[in-house]
Amino acid sequence: MSEDFVGRDLFAEIDRLKKQKNAVILAHYYQNPDIQDVADFVGDSLELARRAQQSQAKLILFAGVHFMAEGAKILNPHSKVIMPDLRAGCSLSDSCPPDAFARFREKNPDHFVISYINCSAAIKAQSDVICTSSNAVKIVEHAPKDRPILFAPDRNLGQWVAGKTGRELTLWQGACIVHETFSERKIIALQVQHPDAELIAHPECEPSLLARAQFIGSTSALLKYVTESPKKKFIVATEEGILHAMKKQAPGKELIPAPPNQNCACNECPFMKLNTLEKVYLALRDEKPEIEMPEELRLKALAPLQRMLEWSA
Ligand code: 13P
Ligand code: SF4
Repeated sequence: MSEDFVGRDLFAEIDRLKKQKNAVILAHYYQNPDIQDVADFVGDSLELARRAQQSQAKLILFAGVHFMAEGAKILNPHSKVIMPDLRAGCSLSDSCPPDAFARFREKNPDHFVISYINCSAAIKAQSDVICTSSNAVKIVEHAPKDRPILFAPDRNLGQWVAGKTGRELTLWQGACIVHETFSERKIIALQVQHPDAELIAHPECEPSLLARAQFIGSTSALLKYVTESPKKKFIVATEEGILHAMKKQAPGKELIPAPPNQNCACNECPFMKLNTLEKVYLALRDEKPEIEMPEELRLKALAPLQRMLEWSA
């Protein structure tokens, strides 16, 4: 990036551009705090998909990762959808290539296919219905009882949902690099040090960690839990970006980010963190990079997304 941003009030410039262009900024809870603060709406995957679908804005800047912005375009083709950085992908989505998934489906031809929203449009197009971490249990419960279920791409979410619903799921073996990084050993040590703290976790974490958690839920569900719980202290096992909203909405609570395996910042999603305030400004100013896809693919991916929204209304 060659432009000099020193001394500029990007918050004010972004605000001006939003008004001038009839644009909205939708941001995920894993975004940097300044991006969350400049956004019109911050939410989890399901809330963001709903917002995108209902938006009347001419321009949607999606501050999240690629599959989320792609989902916004699928649901709202009349808006121009842009991202701060097109390279913001997702390891979980990447763990499920469309050709390999097609072969997996061919081996299980009678299965009803449920895909987690963290996947590409090409995977969505091969699915019967989509789910997010906040409605996965409801969607699996809603699936036809007389059909076996194929669940992709997250094996940890799949295993957790199977346990909650009692349904047997054939799982694609994908995972998220961030949620598989937490060290159980270090979390146990933290629990010994803070016996009054509750462990709360995102269902993308490994089953052994989830078995220790007092509460499991999507980013929004974790935020709601911390805000409404009478408890004062929480060990939070998900990407650390959510702590910003937790601190704002539950200022009296003590939040301890779950530690990763190594002394690294690997509890930060490297894809989400590719987005910066400077890139948000440039994307709004230049109206690019834009999410584009063939209409045929969009329509195929739209049907299972719409089914999800109907089933979880
Ligand atoms: P949520 O749907 O809980 O916001 O999760 C999205 C995600 O990418 C988790 O890693
Ligand atoms: Fe993908 Fe994991 Fe990042 Fe979520 S945290 S966007 S699942 S890589």
